[in-house]
Amino acid sequence: MEDLKNIIRDINDFPKKGIVFKDITTLLSDGKSFHRMIDLIAHRYIGMKIDQVVGVEARGFILGSALAYKLGTGITLVRKPGKLPFRTLRKTYDLEYGTDTLEIHEDAFVAGSRVIIADDLLATGGTMAAVVDLVRECGAEVVECTFMAELEFLEGRKRLPDGKVYSLLKF
Ligand code: PRP
Ligand code: ADE
Repeated sequence: MEDLKNIIRDINDFPKKGIVFKDITTLLSDGKSFHRMIDLIAHRYIGMKIDQVVGVEARGFILGSALAYKLGTGITLVRKPGKLPFRTLRKTYDLEYGTDTLEIHEDAFVAGSRVIIADDLLATGGTMAAVVDLVRECGAEVVECTFMAELEFLEGRKRLPDGKVYSLLKF
């Protein structure tokens, strides 16, 4: 796993002074690494009766769609405000470098669907906590929140449902 971690590069003071930004584009653009990363994460969910994958805009769409393809499910999009065309539920939340709002279609799931929620990186957990609320309000069961990478020192998983958080690469 160290080789996958080493491909992710640190960008200092992005998007704000004092933030060390984990740039995953270097992992995504390397074919062998991208393929391995997706296979490792997807393998965990085979046989777990996952009905649907949720992807969080924007970088969560990449992991989310690859996982949905591997698991043979659809993908539900959680998007920044004003992008989804049908009626939505919305939540405003804090993240490591500001605040933001996310939306989901109110009819996104068949009631009781077992879903995993995919994002690229877990930092403070503000984004994923908001998405967990939205998914539950839409009547689905959150089986796990899944990430390519986690910044452990920010303790984001404390804000998420106990035992329902997985990350492949820990920093
Ligand atoms: C980043 C990242 C996660 C979130 C993690 O998204 O992709 O969604 O921050 O931070 P948190 O755990 O502190 O909430 P960003 O809002 O920068 O959006 P992007 O994917 O559109 O770049
Ligand atoms: N999202 C929130 N904090 C981040 C960080 N430090 N690097 C990359 N994405 C992030």
